[in-house]
Amino acid sequence: MPEMRPNSSSLVVVANRLPIDDSVAPDGACEWRRSPGGLGSALHPLLRHTPATWVGWAGGTGPAPRLPDIDGVRMHSVALTAEDLRDHYEGFANATLWPLYHDAVEQPVYHRRWWEAYQRVNQRFAEAAAAVAEPGGLVWVQDYHLQLVPGLLRALRPDLRIGFFLHVPFPPPELFMQLPRRAELLRGMLGADLIGFQRAQAAHNFAQLVVKVLDLPATDRRIGVDDRVVRVGAYPVSIDTAELAALANRPDVTARARRLRHDLGDPQQVILSVDRMDYTKGIEQRLKAYSELLASGDVKVRDTVLVQVAVPSRERVGQYQILRDRVEREVGRINGEFGRVGEPAIHYLTQPFDRAELAALYRVADVMAVTPLRDGMNLVAKEYVAARVDDTGALLLSEFAGAAAELKQAYLVNPHDLEGLKQVLLTALRAGPDDVGDRMRAMRAHLHRHDIRAWARSYLSALDQTGSLVTRLGSTG
Ligand code: ADP
Ligand code: F6P
Repeated sequence: MPEMRPNSSSLVVVANRLPIDDSVAPDGACEWRRSPGGLGSALHPLLRHTPATWVGWAGGTGPAPRLPDIDGVRMHSVALTAEDLRDHYEGFANATLWPLYHDAVEQPVYHRRWWEAYQRVNQRFAEAAAAVAEPGGLVWVQDYHLQLVPGLLRALRPDLRIGFFLHVPFPPPELFMQLPRRAELLRGMLGADLIGFQRAQAAHNFAQLVVKVLDLPATDRRIGVDDRVVRVGAYPVSIDTAELAALANRPDVTARARRLRHDLGDPQQVILSVDRMDYTKGIEQRLKAYSELLASGDVKVRDTVLVQVAVPSRERVGQYQILRDRVEREVGRINGEFGRVGEPAIHYLTQPFDRAELAALYRVADVMAVTPLRDGMNLVAKEYVAARVDDTGALLLSEFAGAAAELKQAYLVNPHDLEGLKQVLLTALRAGPDDVGDRMRAMRAHLHRHDIRAWARSYLSALDQTGSLVTRLGSTG
């Protein structure tokens, strides 16, 4: 049994990023801010006020900063060098795995040097987790950046319960088989006691690969590895529904929504999209559909405006730079061609917003267009539904977002089908209040039952058979 360490935690979350990001202010001071992204949005409200340690990268390079606790959660930062950042985060994680796991909508890039960095950085995260976890504690490893950590951590600390959750899709065998180091990656994940995916299809893909590549006995729920059984399952991640609804109901937020609508020219209808600037989000396809509807006269700038929020992401990865250039050129073209003085066709914003401003945007949107080409879940879709406290608003949702498996009453669309996208967007714009209300009520009821705490409870009760941790999480507000 490992010795008891001072400052050790019974629950350790390991994720590539801490729920903060450093940025340098114009006067040279270092500021901390919450970085846009699904993982932080999901785990931050959950862990708040839970005695836990979060192991992750604080953004930036150089020595690991010492950080204060945030909302009672201890922040344990892991240092990444400029080379780690380039080859692990920008390279293997975001130029190899990210496109491969998202249907290869962009070409995955393979470099041997990136794999070395992936191993090295995963080892560093595993050592950091091993150093802060209490004897017999529970370590919950998150996402595709850290797929080797469960195996590496088990070798260092066999006393721990180890969970792994993948926030992104897990691809079918015909795509995953491209990966030069596929066997090592699968073995790394199998170091966990429980592997969670967003959708049942992902668990099925994983089990098939384990049989095919590692020749292990596997079903979609259980895999035999050495003398252990690794459990596998679908646990669709969610949001703090009640908190977002309360925020959306706040008088300052509703006043802000009215002000936004006025500033947009009091149009009959507002369409909103909120994405990280990512090629998986289908931004270009959506702009094309909107532009064609403007050209055909089905949508008129005077009556309908599109607000596209696209916060830049992974800006040093080439495919992301190319995407941003293309999106900005297209927004410029559409505004030049269809806008009028004081009436742009698209209100394009690249800033990160605080939660209240996002809630006000959700409240102003008559139609929310969430049309990724592939997405593990898409929390923006869930946030929109939670914010529509008066049961108005139409959600246009891609069939290829994990959220579509739950939000079945959305206006579902195949974003690869341009004509279909145009038609469903028009259907959502023209839908009557009864249809919109029925759909929204059903989706809101679903999200109140299946919120972030329900997600954590179902995952952690499967992982932590003593149940003590689940009780503690359930009691935090
Ligand atoms: P992903 O994990 O791929 O980024 P999700 O839709 O699951 O996609 O999660 C995105 C999260 O980032 C949501 O919680 C959303 O509110 C947040 N977000 C997106 N854009 C912004 C923005 N401009 N400012 C602040 N938060 C944002
Ligand atoms: O789930 C997808 C994901 O990689 C999350 O882990 C993260 O919150 C989000 O996308 C944003 O990505 P990044 O950490 O690269 O900014």
